[in-house]
Amino acid sequence: MADKSMAGLNDFSVKADGAAVDASKKVKVGIIGCGWIAESHIKAFLNQPDVEIVAAADIIPGKAAKFLEKFGVEGAKTDYASHKEMLDDESLALDAVSICTYNCQHAEPAIYALNKGVHVLLEKPFTVTLDEAVEVMKAEKASGKVLSIGFQPRFDENMKMIKKIVQSGELGDIYYIQTGGGRRRGIPTPHGTTFIEKDTAGIGALGDIGCYSLDMVLNALGYPKPLTVSGYKSSLFGTDPKYCGYGKNAEKYSKLFGVDDFAAAFIRLEGGIVLDFRIAWAMNLDTPGDTIILGTKGGLRIPSTECWNGSVGGPMKIYHEVSGVQVETEIPIIKMNKGLFDLKIRTFLDACKNGGEAPVPSSQILYNQAIIDGIAKSAAAGREVEIVIPEI
Ligand SMILES: NC(=O)c1ccc[n+]([C@@H]2O[C@H](COP(=O)([O-])OP(=O)(O)OC[C@H]3O[C@@H](n4cnc5c(N)ncnc54)[C@H](O)[C@@H]3O)[C@@H](O)[C@H]2O)c1
Repeated sequence: MADKSMAGLNDFSVKADGAAVDASKKVKVGIIGCGWIAESHIKAFLNQPDVEIVAAADIIPGKAAKFLEKFGVEGAKTDYASHKEMLDDESLALDAVSICTYNCQHAEPAIYALNKGVHVLLEKPFTVTLDEAVEVMKAEKASGKVLSIGFQPRFDENMKMIKKIVQSGELGDIYYIQTGGGRRRGIPTPHGTTFIEKDTAGIGALGDIGCYSLDMVLNALGYPKPLTVSGYKSSLFGTDPKYCGYGKNAEKYSKLFGVDDFAAAFIRLEGGIVLDFRIAWAMNLDTPGDTIILGTKGGLRIPSTECWNGSVGGPMKIYHEVSGVQVETEIPIIKMNKGLFDLKIRTFLDACKNGGEAPVPSSQILYNQAIIDGIAKSAAAGREVEIVIPEI
């Protein structure tokens, strides 16, 4: 007989923790922004037995209707000019929304939804600036609703293992971390220019994939508070048609490029820990390095990936001593049988239905956002800056 813990891994009538889903209580869901990532959201919602997709909105006329049609959703409303009209439609009796808009349209729809008393699953990065994140959290606090940030790598068992290793004390006291990664050539323009234009993306590689590598290590450490940052960012590749866009789009896209394609920073964290960070959408190298976590008793090496989308590139290794002998312990890759988006959506739904903490709480991701914001400010100022996090 199969191991009970493995039962139902592809069965969506069970929750992430294995308990049965109460399918008699449906969660009424609306999708805001019907582009690329919304497809992963809707697929995962449709896998759940207790969800009713009641509406979708996109500022591009007709896009929401086509989107729902593609996924065979019938009877849902789509006739909205933006998130506002959909959230104002009381006939929907919305319980929750997935916000899948580009970065510059994260804060406003999230605040609007929370003010309407609707639970929010907000895509990563949290926001563009720290000030926006603080405003969203004020609305979250006032509403008492669930706000979860879309970091699906959190549900990867390999990522969880990093946290287990750090929290077990196996590495001793952590004093230095190197994190980040990137792509040799990988400016994300396969679906248009919303990732590279200043008005839609606001931030480039720094927010897009940088937020994942920061979360990987900060979550493992229990999110220590960031204190100061000396940051750098550049856009030497995105603005060059050789590296930006494809074929006939290259010239046009390189002119539209208005964000960073590379960032690096040295960050001081509470507890005397330093964090050395670098991230790239494009560079003349395969990787700027693996992620390493150095402690007084051991060091952990987490191999980088080619794409850097927040995952582990191969078996991790702990460098430590056993009975005075220097040894390395390899941590095998754990195979996942359930999709990360299914887990992201299921855990969000459980929080909406049962109360309790959001699966990826804003209170943690606030520090992630504060670092991203600090890097941008330090890069603009050309010197180290203090990270000041306002009270919420
Ligand atoms: N978690 C992941 O793995 C993952 C992967 C890709 C993208 N993302 C994130 O998801 C977000 C969206 O990325 P994408 O690739 O889907 O972008 P996209 O440009 O393909 O889609 C965004 C859509 O939002 C719509 N929109 C913008 N403002 C709106 C508003 N106020 N109301 C209604 N619709 C609005 C746009 O018209 C567009 O159709 C980004 O923040 C990105 O960082 C996350």
